[in-house]
Amino acid sequence: MGIQFSLMAVVALVLVAFLGVKVAGLDYFFGVLIPYIAIFTFIAGFIYRVLGWARSPVPFRIPTTAGQQHSLPWIKPNKFDNPYTKWGVFVRMALEILLFRSLFRNTKMELHEGPKITYHWEKWLWLAALAFHWSFLIILVRHLRFFTEPVPGMIHLTERLDGFLQLGLPGIYITDLLFLVAVTYLFIRRVIIPQMRYISLPADYFPLFLLLAIGITGVLMRYFTKVDLLKIKELAIGLVTFHPTAPEGIGVLFYMHLFLVSTLFFYFPFSKLMHLGGVFLSPTRNLPNDNRMVRHINPWNYPVKTHTYEEYEEHFRDKMIEAGLPVEKE
Ligand code: HEM
Repeated sequence: MGIQFSLMAVVALVLVAFLGVKVAGLDYFFGVLIPYIAIFTFIAGFIYRVLGWARSPVPFRIPTTAGQQHSLPWIKPNKFDNPYTKWGVFVRMALEILLFRSLFRNTKMELHEGPKITYHWEKWLWLAALAFHWSFLIILVRHLRFFTEPVPGMIHLTERLDGFLQLGLPGIYITDLLFLVAVTYLFIRRVIIPQMRYISLPADYFPLFLLLAIGITGVLMRYFTKVDLLKIKELAIGLVTFHPTAPEGIGVLFYMHLFLVSTLFFYFPFSKLMHLGGVFLSPTRNLPNDNRMVRHINPWNYPVKTHTYEEYEEHFRDKMIEAGLPVEKE
């Protein structure tokens, strides 16, 4: 159900852009207004969500620990899987964000007859996630060539490295292949592993189809049909300099690509894709596990009115003696 629904939604988006531009001639609407609305929603929504997390109190240390804690001098602590210094946390976060370390530690558990539990090496998800996120990032960096004039050398360098295979004309970018293969793998994995399929919702399939459609329209534009890149650059520069124009004759495929990208940006703050911002604010990752070294005082502590035993006895001594109860002070 979730699959069909998400697929239909993405197909509908493509159709809307096609009809809107090809039939209704709404170039300006799809080339300027929609991208502005999308980017505004993305930025405002992103900030709103991050502020929401940043405002949530974290009164306790709750790091997930995945190694020996720092304790006695002769026991070797695991500095990065159970960090107890800010530096350790920094390295842990960097490993997590750049290399998805926690996913790397993933294993597959199976229950066999006996009953017997086995754990398998399982690195495919990690590999596909890494390929997907890194190629996405590099594609985005390469796209900056549309939005900058003159184009910074760093972007040209990224293009040259990415296209070093020099296969065909125009040269094939490795990231285009990796992106499409990785997203396809992530989708197939969800469908063929029964447990994964069981827990998957439209919110899981929709972003995958959306990304796949963005990749496919992009690849079609670059390798199969021609779009007017000069005019596209004019539109892109117009957007970032706030002098928007929608030049005529760009080609409808570009508008499909742009509409899908706009949908992605618009949808982002409301979706699980917000893990982009959330990972930095995750208290299970960004807190040092230093409970044994530092006394953490609950920031909400307020002076509590107490009634000690001494005070109690002072109050009731006569009655206690009368009742034959033992007292500390006669
Ligand atoms: C989430 C953001 C985006 C993703 C993932 C994405 C993805 C892709 C991919 C995979 C390609 C294939 C060729 C290549 O890698 O260069 C491509 C091409 C292209 N994209 Fe995007 N794109 C995004 C945003 C945009 C935006 C905002 C524009 C607006 C200027 C744009 C315009 C183009 C154009 C004109 C091409 C054809 C390039 C050529 O013929 O060399 N894309 N896109």
